[in-house]
Amino acid sequence: MNRRRFLGAGLASAAAACGVPLTRSAVVPPPAALAGDRVAPLAAVSRLVVERQDPLAGRCRYVAGLGTRTVAQPVFVARRGESFDAVIENALPQPTTVHFHGLTLAEAQDGAGFDPIAPGASKRVRFEVKNRSGLYWFHPHPHGFTAEQVYGGLAGLLVVTDDDDDALDAALGLAPGNRLALAVADARVVAGAIRPYAPTAEDCLTGWLGNRSLVNGELDAERVVAPGWARLQILNACNARGLLLAFRDGEQLVPFSLVGTDGGLLGAPREIDRAFLHTGERVDVAINLAGRRAVVATSLEFDARHHTQGAAPTRHHPARDRYPPLAAAAVCESAVRSDPGDRLPDGAELSLFTLRVGAAPARTAPPLPARLSGLPDAAAGPQDVTRRMRLDFDERTGFLIDQTPYRLDETAFSVRRGTRETWEIRNSPISMPHPMHLHGFGFRVLRRQGTYGAARHFATESGGRFPTDLGVKDTVLLWPNETIWLAVDFALPDDAAFRGAQRYLFHCHNLEHEDAMMMRNFAVV
Ligand code: C2O
Ligand code: CU
Ligand code: CU
Repeated sequence: MNRRRFLGAGLASAAAACGVPLTRSAVVPPPAALAGDRVAPLAAVSRLVVERQDPLAGRCRYVAGLGTRTVAQPVFVARRGESFDAVIENALPQPTTVHFHGLTLAEAQDGAGFDPIAPGASKRVRFEVKNRSGLYWFHPHPHGFTAEQVYGGLAGLLVVTDDDDDALDAALGLAPGNRLALAVADARVVAGAIRPYAPTAEDCLTGWLGNRSLVNGELDAERVVAPGWARLQILNACNARGLLLAFRDGEQLVPFSLVGTDGGLLGAPREIDRAFLHTGERVDVAINLAGRRAVVATSLEFDARHHTQGAAPTRHHPARDRYPPLAAAAVCESAVRSDPGDRLPDGAELSLFTLRVGAAPARTAPPLPARLSGLPDAAAGPQDVTRRMRLDFDERTGFLIDQTPYRLDETAFSVRRGTRETWEIRNSPISMPHPMHLHGFGFRVLRRQGTYGAARHFATESGGRFPTDLGVKDTVLLWPNETIWLAVDFALPDDAAFRGAQRYLFHCHNLEHEDAMMMRNFAVV
């Protein structure tokens, strides 16, 4: 019974709602605590334009059309069961797609890059949001251009709500503005300006790193919140940088509660004072600000475990020959070595954003609820099939999955619908951290082995897992030398959109690795 619970409960209730077509008038308003003029209901969007704003620096943005209103760089909110039905217009000089990271979508809606939108073209995309409440996000996924476009500013948030989500806001007694959805990225900033994407071959090996944090596109972001609880849903939207998220009040670290991860709320909260958050991962955090004036969200220093020596030759993506870069800069071939000050090493301390506590009358923070959702703490029982994969590094070929560079027309393996698989993934000791992401399916992390000493210290959960391994995940970090076991349930919704074989991706979410072919297709048949 519990084996189906973590996803099954979700799909069943979504299927029940399936026969009822949703009308635009049925749009559920966003949660009261989530304020901001960029918040827009997903179900009211009819157009989504992807455009370049600034050809010199290659900065881009999304502009959503909702009736007569437009919202630039929107934060979308959807009630579970609501639908998206919009025309996506590509105004970039490169092909693009819109991939909703973490959502359960059929191949035709997944924006995975099989069928990109050409420059000047448009495409209608329709789907129903079947997932649990949580923070999801959308970004381009055209092969060879993903890293450049995401760095250009194309990373939007989608907050999904449901009854568990409402219950948590109510239990926390959140003041308006005390719920935040934040995409944290890093950028190379020189003299106050964001530098264009111009990676060297070395950047393409380790990933493109910046020196300053950008929160929802903003440098030096600050938010004013009321005393009491704040609920923060945070995405690591960096191309390559890992974060060790903590909150500083002066020299002190402020404890916080982890209430959710990639695919929504945990069964029960975990009290911690720092959390690893790698690219593509999300955390949902409740922090008590009673009695504080300001708290600075910081990525603490950590050993980022880059164990590779010698730059690999760059894998030149054939599609790149046909389209210009977003800014006038060469990609993976730039001879211009950046000033070391423009590129803060992975694992260096970096301050992310500031929460200022307003002078509202002091609120007492009610106790956190003991149960947040019906999600069982333990992952599913024995699986039907075990599948093994290796992440390799080779001086000649760079980073690959099972020694095989990505090919659009190759299917690495097929999985039967409804099968439960254990994935055993092993990362080479001579490697670097790889945040591995699965499209279409949430999974549970069962166990880790071979984690390096300093990180193992924070692996406080059973099976050598980190608190951020709990819950429903779609992206999980593999440190060098680690082996990790995941439980994946390949159940697909019983819905016309999912008929026939569906192709999905499994790839590294270090975007330079993804563009350098650290990705495979598989089919669910
Ligand atoms: Cu966030 Cu395949 O992507
Ligand atoms: Cu994805
Ligand atoms: Cu990688």
